[in-house]
Amino acid sequence: MAFHTVGNYTFQWTDLHLPREKTDPLRHEYDTLGHDAVKKLQQIARELKGEAAVKPTLCPGGFDMYAVLRDHHTEDETLDRLWKEVHTVPEWVDWEQIERGQKFFYRYAAANMVGFLLQAFFGENSAAPGVIEVLMRTGGFSPKVLVRRLLETFQHLLQVTSSLESIQPGGQGHTTTIRVRLLHSAVRERILRLVETRPDYFDVATYGVPVNVLDSIHSITTYSCNPMWFQLPQMGVFPTEQEKQDYIALFRYVGYLLATPTEYFASVAQAKATMESLLLHERSVTANSLIIGHNLMETVKDMAPFHISEGFIEAGSRVLNGDALSDSLGLGRPGMLAYACWKGHCWFVRVLALAQKWIPGADEAAVRYFRMTLYDAIVNSRKGLGGRLSKMDFKYVPEMNKMTKREGSGRGLFAGSFVERPVETFYLAVFVVGVVFWIGIVSLIGRGLMRLLKLCVI
Ligand code: HEM
Repeated sequence: MAFHTVGNYTFQWTDLHLPREKTDPLRHEYDTLGHDAVKKLQQIARELKGEAAVKPTLCPGGFDMYAVLRDHHTEDETLDRLWKEVHTVPEWVDWEQIERGQKFFYRYAAANMVGFLLQAFFGENSAAPGVIEVLMRTGGFSPKVLVRRLLETFQHLLQVTSSLESIQPGGQGHTTTIRVRLLHSAVRERILRLVETRPDYFDVATYGVPVNVLDSIHSITTYSCNPMWFQLPQMGVFPTEQEKQDYIALFRYVGYLLATPTEYFASVAQAKATMESLLLHERSVTANSLIIGHNLMETVKDMAPFHISEGFIEAGSRVLNGDALSDSLGLGRPGMLAYACWKGHCWFVRVLALAQKWIPGADEAAVRYFRMTLYDAIVNSRKGLGGRLSKMDFKYVPEMNKMTKREGSGRGLFAGSFVERPVETFYLAVFVVGVVFWIGIVSLIGRGLMRLLKLCVI
């Protein structure tokens, strides 16, 4: 079977891979149950506000969709079907496996977080035209609100991995995932409603329905498969087969809650083939990708407290996404210092992973530590969500004349020195120690060989 190379990744086509004839129609399929449910929820919300007679407005946000679903699902057949669906656990769900999958995120936390930001957001997301077209219209990728949006994405990621109870029906991660499903449906409903008034508002023929089934499958591969094949191995961390099975199983279940077909994630081999098929069919950089990529860079670079430099982001993105994609996304070419820091990061996460494997108790301790620290940093801290969990409200509402533009962050230029970039300073130190270590090893081997040579000559 044929080999394909996309960016810096090569794979062989197999019978499990999905030809275009199979994936293209999925662009026009979507979560009809969620869609119908959101319309019902909007109607109930209007009735509750005493506005039943008011014709549906073009701005259906401003109420807690999940609360209305929870409190009123028994009164309506569609809502009840949705409620029952998300509270029915599929027979393939194995809670022990899901729990192991949750630990995977924290076991390799530093590699996973950096991979998610630099590969999933910068590379995969920016080069997925259907997703980009939607994000351009919601405005969630404007630097003014992007930090909050990223924090909310991480909130969800932390909640679905925080504990087994959290992802089980009724738990926090479960509830937030249903909120996200309703949010996706509200965004879709809103864009489609605008299309009714002005058909050229969103090119449904080319990009499919907003937040469609194909884009959702793509997103689940980004969450669950990209760490296994695009991110961690490039940093020197190699997940085991068991870890792959477990993490993919976790996101198969998250995908189920988000109305994403689950058969594409039924095995590691199938999930990998799905990821590779979409890599081949879907990766494409448009003018709007450049805007989203630019805004992401503007938001993330130099942000307190870590002040990560643009060079470090570029170096990591280039290694993870390949030069061709990075060039087409307009990323600059950083100098040696940035690559040295990136190498330091890779050596650090590799040594950490090996230590967790070999030192008894280290793995549990690392999982516990990162579970607590990340939640504190992202949810509880003042620089994070300030202790207020997001309810994933519909706040970035598409408007007819609103389109995300290329914008600056509004922050002044970072004027600090290199040592005021603590993460990079640390990684540079790791790099220097690593180089000294390797020079030591090489000179030891060299000396040993010389001695051997002398003995042989004598
Ligand atoms: C199936 C896997 C997906 C997961 C796990 C997921 C996760 C999330 C989460 C956690 C949020 C709320 C936090 C935030 O605003 O970032 C969100 C919002 C949103 N998602 Fe998704 N998402 C998925 C698929 C998609 C797809 C395929 C699209 C297609 C365009 C999409 C578009 C959006 C939009 C437009 C928002 C509202 C916020 C904004 O405008 O930026 N999502 N998603």
